[in-house]
Amino acid sequence: MQNPIIAALDVPSPNQAHTLIDQIGSQIGAFKVGMELFTAAGPEIIHRIREQDAAVFLDLKFHDIPNTVAKAVASAVRLDVQMLTIHTHGGSTMMKAAENAAQETARELGTAAPLVLGVSVLTSMDQSDLQEIGLSNPVADQVERVVQLGVESGLRGFVCSPLEIERLRKIIPKETKLVTPGIRMASDAKGDQKRTKSPIEALQSGADYLVIGRPIYAAPNPSDALKRILESIEA
Ligand code: C5P
Repeated sequence: MQNPIIAALDVPSPNQAHTLIDQIGSQIGAFKVGMELFTAAGPEIIHRIREQDAAVFLDLKFHDIPNTVAKAVASAVRLDVQMLTIHTHGGSTMMKAAENAAQETARELGTAAPLVLGVSVLTSMDQSDLQEIGLSNPVADQVERVVQLGVESGLRGFVCSPLEIERLRKIIPKETKLVTPGIRMASDAKGDQKRTKSPIEALQSGADYLVIGRPIYAAPNPSDALKRILESIEA
């Protein structure tokens, strides 16, 4: 990846996504394709991004029985994605199956295995949401618990909130990658993100990749917005 910025393609239609891919595809590290766009546009959108040589982060947060998740990961590798997400709450057997499927399928194809990223506790969930589903740990402890389990299961990366980076860096191997959303420049509207850091703050506290949505795709000029972000981290 040419830089650590991942632009979230959180748009509903293939046409809107194509416009963004054409506008910033040559300057971005990767595009994140989530459930909304993938359900609307299908694998074609991945091919379109790869034609621009940008990397693809397929954010479908797989969470199912190990066999099913392994097959979904293998399909994602065949689509030529460079990062994808699974839920750590699927358990260690599921996480191992996902990582193995990524490695084995990549070996068969002679390509590099994508980074299988574990999603810990969704940042939309608080203590009372955890209690509701029978988890009594404080949120931060639950995040550490499932990230630790993910490391033991062979995962090489995790998605986390910018405010969790420093705590997680203390318990994960130094080569483990951290990807963080919740990134805002001082001049950006926060939207529904409550706990944000600027791009440079997040990188300095130990993030490897930054997922940025509205500050890029909803900007009057996405290419200029991305340039300002890149300048802020280069400086
Ligand atoms: O527009 P914004 O920069 O807030 O978009 C952040 C992106 O990161 C969205 O695609 C959102 O779904 C994703 N995300 C998040 N918080 C998480 C996990 C993913 O904001 N905990």
